[in-house]
Amino acid sequence: VDTDVDLESKINALKKSLNAVILAHYYQESEIQDVADFVGDSLALAQAAAKTDADVIVFCGVHFMAETAKILNPTKQVLLPDLKAGCSLSDRCPPAAFQAFKAKHPDAFVVSYVNSSAAVKAMSDVICTSSNAVKIVSQVPQDRQILFAPDQHLGRHVMKQTGRDMVLWPGSCIVHEIFSEKKLVQLKVEHPDAEVVAHPECEQPVLRHADFIGSTKGILDYVVASPKQKFIVVTEAGILHQMKLKAPQKTYIPAPPDNGCACNECPYMRLNTLQKLYQCMRDRTPELILPEHLQTAARAPLQRMLEWS
Ligand code: 13P
Ligand code: SF4
Repeated sequence: VDTDVDLESKINALKKSLNAVILAHYYQESEIQDVADFVGDSLALAQAAAKTDADVIVFCGVHFMAETAKILNPTKQVLLPDLKAGCSLSDRCPPAAFQAFKAKHPDAFVVSYVNSSAAVKAMSDVICTSSNAVKIVSQVPQDRQILFAPDQHLGRHVMKQTGRDMVLWPGSCIVHEIFSEKKLVQLKVEHPDAEVVAHPECEQPVLRHADFIGSTKGILDYVVASPKQKFIVVTEAGILHQMKLKAPQKTYIPAPPDNGCACNECPYMRLNTLQKLYQCMRDRTPELILPEHLQTAARAPLQRMLEWS
């Protein structure tokens, strides 16, 4: 059996021989983040994918993120350690139902969150991520009604920030919707000196306790820059790894979910392991395959996002 150190050196050798780049999201296990060439939030990963000159993109994240990398790099091979790493938000917005929703508002401008399938992106006018959603929505012509999918909590947050009214698809994330307001308040009482930082996919009763709301990268940058020394972190616990690397002297308390677990992990993100990462590079499979017509249709709204960001 390979140790993590063996796996890391084999992965590093494969990176060179394949001319591969490893992109990892902050919700990946620490060992994967440590071996990656680039760790980022959804926007930064899409931007990194758009400008890489590697021949192979190994995407350590979930399926819709790897799809985005493929759409922006149609001639490159995109590998992902586990094809089953999906996303509850994306799954809760099936393309046929979304098409029917859109048909009810035929003149609306459609803004879709990047956590959606390529088929939903293909039906959208522009894509956004949690870090640029406010900026993107602000650029939609004032006279257009906006449909926003699939995360209703991010949608409400953006409505508040921009003052724009939007019709929301009723989606949510199984990880962020189960943070407990009661446990968060208990933690705040125990640690009155801590700041609360939260991801906008959390529900309103949780978000109203936050001192800062932002994307994973936004949260990370905030805690590193803040003069405060203690933070209650209300998002997937993988982000704590970079916080501890970037500001090791500070204290980070992961907010607990309502399911009895001590901290909150995304079951899809955590399907990827160092062992599977090594195997997918060694065997050059599983590979992300996406029909050409979907790639073409989803590319325009994604490129519009990159231009508007
Ligand atoms: P970020 O874009 O903030 O990294 O969020 C991605 C995600 O899946 C949050 O659950
Ligand atoms: Fe999807 Fe939620 Fe996991 Fe993010 S944390 S990948 S939104 S299921």
